Amino acid sequence: MKYTVLALAGDGIGPEILRAGIDVANAIAKKADLELDIIYDLIGGVCWDKHQTFCRSKTVSVAQKTNAVLVGAVGGPKWDTLKIDVLPEERDGLMKLRKEMRAFFGMRPVKYYPQLHDQTPYARGKVENSEIMVLREMCGGVMFAQPRGKKNKKNQRYAYDTAGYTETEIRQFAVGGFELARLRKNRLVSIDKSNVMESYRLWREVVQEVSREYKDVEVKHLYADNCAFQIAMNPAQFDIVLACNFLGDLFSDLAGIISGGLGMLPSASLCEPPIGVTQGIYEPVHGSAPDLIGAGIANPIGMILSVGMMFDYSFGRKDLSERIEHAIQQVLDVGCMTPDVGGAASTDEVTKKVIKEIQKWP
Ligand code: IPM
Ligand code: MG
Repeated sequence: MKYTVLALAGDGIGPEILRAGIDVANAIAKKADLELDIIYDLIGGVCWDKHQTFCRSKTVSVAQKTNAVLVGAVGGPKWDTLKIDVLPEERDGLMKLRKEMRAFFGMRPVKYYPQLHDQTPYARGKVENSEIMVLREMCGGVMFAQPRGKKNKKNQRYAYDTAGYTETEIRQFAVGGFELARLRKNRLVSIDKSNVMESYRLWREVVQEVSREYKDVEVKHLYADNCAFQIAMNPAQFDIVLACNFLGDLFSDLAGIISGGLGMLPSASLCEPPIGVTQGIYEPVHGSAPDLIGAGIANPIGMILSVGMMFDYSFGRKDLSERIEHAIQQVLDVGCMTPDVGGAASTDEVTKKVIKEIQKWP
C-alpha cells in the first residue's frame, strides 16, 4: 500500500518535532512494508514571510488529494501583531486548513501515564485509570461564525464575535460522537452553557435529539464550568467529552493535566467521524514554543502519537497505532523523556529510542 502525506512543519519547534514524527512514520512504513510519499510545504508564520498568507490555497488543494496531513506547530510572537483581515481563516493557517478541508471532527485523547505521575498535580489514587477523549468540533462556533469585527461604539473601541452553530453542524458532529461512544464505553458527556447562551441551547437540544437514536449510549449534559471542576477533581469518571470548537480548545488543554504535560498530547481533525478510513489533519496539541527553538529538547511524543492516530484513522491500521503507543510506554518505562515531563533526554534521544522499539517488532 502507498499513502501520500502532506507535511507542514510550521513555526517554532514545529520543524524539530515534525522531523521526529516523520522519522517514526518511516521506520514503521519500513517494518510494515508500506510506502509513504511525503510532500513538504509551508504553513503559519514561515508561509507568511514567503507568500504573505498563512496558508496558500494551493496547499489546501494539495492537502485534499493526500491521505493525511501532518502539522508541527504554527505561530510565534513575530506574527502575533500583524494587522490582517479579521477572518480567522486569514489570521491562522491551521484554521484555514481545517475549515477548507472540512476537518470538523476533532479527536483529542488524553491518557494517564503512571511513569509521569509526579508531573501531575494529583495525589496517588485520584487519577489512575483516567482516559478522556475530548471531541472538539473544529470548523464552526464562535471561532468562525459571522459577523465579527471591531468598530467604534460610544466613543470607544468595541470588538465582537458571534457564537453561532447551525443544527446541521451540531448534528453531524454529535452523530460522530455517539458512533464513537458505541466503539468505546457507551457513554458521553456533552458540555455547553445553555443556562445563558442561545447557541448552546440549540447545542443541547440537537444533542438530545441525536441521543434518541442512540438509546444504548448513556448521555449526560453538563454546564461547562461544572464539568471543568469535575474533570479536575475526578477525571476517572469521564470517557468522551463532546464540545464545541471553543470549549473543546479549552477542555483539551484542561484534560491534558492528567497526562502530566501538554507535550504528550496528540490530536486528529478528521473529515469524517472515525467509523471508516478518512482523511485528516494530525498535529500535537501543544504550540510552537518559541522559547525552546533549537534547544533540541522539545517533547516529540505528542507528535509521534499524532502519527499513530494517522495510521489508525487515515490508513486503517489500528494495529500499528497500538504498537506505537506501546513503544512510547516502553520508552517512558526506562525514563527516557524530555525535561518538560521531568526527564533529561533530548528530542533526538526519545525519537531514536522509539524507533529502536519499532525495529524490534517481529
Ligand atoms: C489548538 C490551538 C489552535 C486552536 C490555535 C493555534 C489556533 O490552540 O489546536 O488547540 O485554537 O485551535
Ligand atoms: Mg488549543
